Amino acid sequence: MTEQPSQEQLLEYFADYVSPQKVKMYRMWGVDFIPGRREGVRVWDYDGKRSWIDCRSAGGVFNLGHRPPRVIAALKNALDEIDISDHMLASGYRGLLAKRLAELTPGDLQYTTFGSSGGEAIDFALKLARGHTGKPGVVSAEKGYHGHTGLALAATDEFGDKWGPLAPGFRRVPFGDYNALEAAVTDDVAAVIMETIPATAGFPIPPDDWYPRVRSLCDERGVILILDEVQAGLGRTGRLWAYEEWDILPDIMVCGKGMSAAIYPLSTATYRKPIQSFFDDNAFAHLSSTGGSELGCVTALAMLDQITEPGFSEHVQAMGQRFEDGFAALREKHPDMLKGLNRRGLMIGVVMSREECGMLAMRALAKRGVIAVYAHYNPNILQLMPPLIIQANEVDEVLDAMDGALTEIGETIAARA
Ligand SMILES: Cc1ncc(COP(=O)(O)O)c(C=O)c1O
Repeated sequence: MTEQPSQEQLLEYFADYVSPQKVKMYRMWGVDFIPGRREGVRVWDYDGKRSWIDCRSAGGVFNLGHRPPRVIAALKNALDEIDISDHMLASGYRGLLAKRLAELTPGDLQYTTFGSSGGEAIDFALKLARGHTGKPGVVSAEKGYHGHTGLALAATDEFGDKWGPLAPGFRRVPFGDYNALEAAVTDDVAAVIMETIPATAGFPIPPDDWYPRVRSLCDERGVILILDEVQAGLGRTGRLWAYEEWDILPDIMVCGKGMSAAIYPLSTATYRKPIQSFFDDNAFAHLSSTGGSELGCVTALAMLDQITEPGFSEHVQAMGQRFEDGFAALREKHPDMLKGLNRRGLMIGVVMSREECGMLAMRALAKRGVIAVYAHYNPNILQLMPPLIIQANEVDEVLDAMDGALTEIGETIAARA
């Protein structure tokens, strides 16, 4: 009988054959475990001895938690009947999912093109903007993140620096700075792209007039507005789409992560009717062999059924409010540490007083049974994105862990002084 490798051995395999650097970081962050059982908001380690509430949700992949039963049942049924299908041919499932998305989005957002990853759908959105306008320029936000594929990487801040030369035609402005945006949107610009609420920046909430003004500017100058809802969309903010908060309509809306329900990779770019005419002479101008797999469409349809059920958004809002109330109490207890909260629904950025706090909080929380990460571009902000199905007692568990973590961080910082 072959011996089962231990958790430590599996970590060593990962270090030896995938990435030694990552394992070093996992050890530093206190998340050096191999995921074993997983269910709902929780993940257990390989030995089944320790468990964590997942407040990372892989940026929204786990919106419905780990192994959502309804989605799994839908996929199991589908596996008895279908496969990914031929991407060049018509597809009933792709048609059904695109129709559903058109029904669930406001205005004349109607057509959907599918991909497998968020980056792929962002690349497609930028290509479509260029194809439709015949212009090359793209304006994105500083501290924005759109993925690691070609055009997405060029629109992303910082990560691309190591992989140059990047695609030309891209420039960035500070998120929320209208004057800078107005100056950047020159005659050669095809698209303005931004995350509706920038995740990797720690979820800054823009001024109330930001999106209405961005929309008007794009209208005036014939520029395509692409909103990246990969993290903020699909119910995360307590609304189905984050941009609904500002009552505006993007020309192209991109979804990923949660579209998979953590079961089958799928991403989507949904766009307005007039832009679709680009394909009049180019029906096959964009292709993806596995993007829009019918199996993925089945899982996405089951996911959409769940997040559009009566009471789902209200639950997200109520749990978000419970976090907010809990943090208000924690702020009184740890006034030197907690500075504020960037929050919409269950998209929560815990703003702390010092840069080092994010990493310290991550470690201290991991010790206390919660997985969360700090915002890459603003490391004083801890990102909390629990599955949207989190319950009140689990919110309280996270808040208790946060209380203990803040005490520990305070002591660590005092000891260093
Ligand atoms: C806002 C946003 N857009 C796009 C992407 C890219 O998605 P993917 O990793 O599936 O390519 C990500 C991934 O983290 C993201 O957070």
